[in-house]
Amino acid sequence: MAVVTSSGPAPDLKLVIVGAGRMGGAVLQGALRAGVIEPQDVAIYHPNERRGAELSERHGVAYVSDDGLKRAAYVLLAVKPQSFMRVAPLVARRDACFVSLMAGVPARRIADRVGSRRVIRAMPNLGASLGVSATALAALPEALPEDLGFSRSLFSAVGSVYDVREEQFDAFTGMAGSGPAYAAVVAEALADGGVRVGLDRTLARDLARQVLLAAARLLETRHPSELKDEVSSAGGTAIAGVRTLERHRLRFALIDAVEEATKRAGELSREEP
Ligand SMILES: NC(=O)c1ccc[n+]([C@@H]2O[C@H](COP(=O)([O-])OP(=O)(O)OC[C@H]3O[C@@H](n4cnc5c(N)ncnc54)[C@H](OP(=O)(O)O)[C@@H]3O)[C@@H](O)[C@H]2O)c1
Repeated sequence: MAVVTSSGPAPDLKLVIVGAGRMGGAVLQGALRAGVIEPQDVAIYHPNERRGAELSERHGVAYVSDDGLKRAAYVLLAVKPQSFMRVAPLVARRDACFVSLMAGVPARRIADRVGSRRVIRAMPNLGASLGVSATALAALPEALPEDLGFSRSLFSAVGSVYDVREEQFDAFTGMAGSGPAYAAVVAEALADGGVRVGLDRTLARDLARQVLLAAARLLETRHPSELKDEVSSAGGTAIAGVRTLERHRLRFALIDAVEEATKRAGELSREEP
């Protein structure tokens, strides 16, 4: 894909992605697949031209240089939080809307650095790469209704979107953002359990994944306690296992994990990137 070099006063690109890595790339791909944006209306920015060209090739959209950054109506900030200080002066514009998915960088801090108060903050999770993210959205009051509408359609392309007050972003991060890691630990431990009772490791890992997938699908139409009750017959195996989980305080461990992760998210967002 060619670099876009010309620049003009009016935005002629809908969106520029600043940081087309794992998460920025997933959102870009999701939005293109869902037709939320057309390839000619979006571009990738990267300070290194060779890298920009690689990312452009990978995603099938143009890349822009510093000049091109001024041409977009929307800027998706998807760099690492620690890169934001370096990137902010380059992207600063009064007349654009900034959509950030950077963890732990408050919307007001972004607004102060980029010079626009049309800032929307999003918190997706890794499920975005498969279109099953749970994404929180919060906007500064100065964001326009169409800014929120566009951001909602962008993240709806990679999963479900929830309007959440920004004060609750740390809680959302501690639960839904970090949640895939807790589920991965559960999957790994389940597989270890299978190996302990004699199943081959590969089979045990496959079964653990399938169990979590089945449970997630079943929970679409049931309360968690209903699902547990359905599986646990009188005097049977599941209730024996559930009793053991209660004895080892699995519930407490998960509640505590979410609380600790939320606290950590708060600590990180108080640190200046
Ligand atoms: N991954 C997750 O599960 C997740 C969940 C929620 C939020 N987030 C947030 O998403 C953001 C990105 O995380 P990630 O996991 O996607 O990281 P990543 O894969 O490292 O992506 C960052 C991208 O930014 C590019 N980049 C670095 N400096 C740049 C600059 N000055 N201008 C333009 N692009 C630049 C990097 O290019 P190179 O490849 O050349 O270095 C890379 O492609 C973070 O702020 C994180 O907090 C991530």
